[in-house]
Amino acid sequence: MSWSPSSWRTKPVAQVPVYPDGEALARVEAKLKTYPPLVFAGEARNLKRDLAQVAEGRAFLMQGGDCAESFAEFHPDNIRDTFRVILQMAVVLTFAGAMPVVKVGRIAGQFAKPRSADTEVQDGVELPSYRGDIINAAPFDEASRRPEPERMIQAYGQAASTLNLIRAFAQGGYADLHNVHRWNLGFIAGSPAGDRYATLANRISETLEFMEACGITPDSAPQLRATEFFTSHEALLLGYEQAMTRIDSTTGDWYDTSAHMLWIGDRTRQLEGAHVEFARGIRNPIAVKCGPSLSNDDLIRLCDALNPSNEAGRLTLIARFGADKVEEHLPRLIRAVKREGRVVVWSCDPMHGNTVKSVSGLKTRPFDRVLKEVQTFFQVHRAEGTHAGGVHLELTGQNVTECTGGAAAITDADLSSRYHTHCDPRLNANQALELAFLVAEGIRAERVKAQRPAAAQ
Ligand code: TRP
Ligand code: MN
Repeated sequence: MSWSPSSWRTKPVAQVPVYPDGEALARVEAKLKTYPPLVFAGEARNLKRDLAQVAEGRAFLMQGGDCAESFAEFHPDNIRDTFRVILQMAVVLTFAGAMPVVKVGRIAGQFAKPRSADTEVQDGVELPSYRGDIINAAPFDEASRRPEPERMIQAYGQAASTLNLIRAFAQGGYADLHNVHRWNLGFIAGSPAGDRYATLANRISETLEFMEACGITPDSAPQLRATEFFTSHEALLLGYEQAMTRIDSTTGDWYDTSAHMLWIGDRTRQLEGAHVEFARGIRNPIAVKCGPSLSNDDLIRLCDALNPSNEAGRLTLIARFGADKVEEHLPRLIRAVKREGRVVVWSCDPMHGNTVKSVSGLKTRPFDRVLKEVQTFFQVHRAEGTHAGGVHLELTGQNVTECTGGAAAITDADLSSRYHTHCDPRLNANQALELAFLVAEGIRAERVKAQRPAAAQ
């Protein structure tokens, strides 16, 4: 089966718009092809190496960020705040879970959105659906909703400068473990999750002092000073992804250089479809969102197509069933994968199966359902004897009110006070941190079970 970056064009393609101006589209794609890669193939291989550790039960994947990045909210403070809450979560998981954490942002390229319908009707007027800022604009008028190729150039530019700032934060001192207290500033401090974090940060500071007294300093152990942070987004807009796909001169393999990791959504994972065709030929780590409609056989066929040589770290399966459906679907998929001897990372997206309409009509996610899905995910893996490998979250470092519940007990009525998402409701920083503590407990429980002698289990 031959493959090229454009072979997806011969397959049925879902969720990609038809551009009214095909020539403008071709011009933009040709221009993008000449732009520098955003990530380097060697980095994608490093992520694959780290994910192989997750697949083998020795590390945990923390993937999170905005549902959709937007042009309007592009601001250094937003990037910093998202990065900061991910660092906080990672440090909670590393310390309380005592496990290495692979950090992957839904950031620096997460612009395109799959939609349930191609068009939207308001007051008898029908227009194309809003598909994310890389494609069109949200206001309900004809000009805004027209797919505009130039938006890909703007998205590329935003991704490049976002990634540049993230690299500076990750490597330039901000992510130094000695700053563990400083990540807890602002509205998080003083909340229950913030207090719990402060206690943990004290213990880390103490540990660092102890290690320093023993001669383990940032000079002798530079990993204290920096972290590795990877990027990811849904590989939805295939024209853009194709333009960013390049041959790596070291290996001669194709890599999609728009991000380290790409995923295929639950709506675009058709075996004979364009998105699977595109993903199978790039060497980046790939993830697939797995919802209730995915059959065991189709999952194995997806493994065959996307990871034919069964390489650890190549394929991540992101379960997104909804709190009340995990128990019904996750065990059968885990067993099918185990029976066929496939090596995968199992991750949990507790967001997308738990979206409901609030009384006021706003989309929300009850935080207790989000927690429940994560808890059940861990329970199922403990029962199956497999590794609950990671979480995939929609979150923001801002103090938004988009998901109900949490320690601050955000109610339906509170939603409208700071509801800023232009896509799905995200966890705010407090909720994200609260969730991190729960996940750390899940990681600990898994280890306790693994360490018990088999007869006692
Ligand atoms: N380099 C290690 C890691 O990334 C330790 C570390 C440094 C760290 N800064 C961090 C861990 C920030 C979590 C968060 O795991
Ligand atoms: Mn979403």
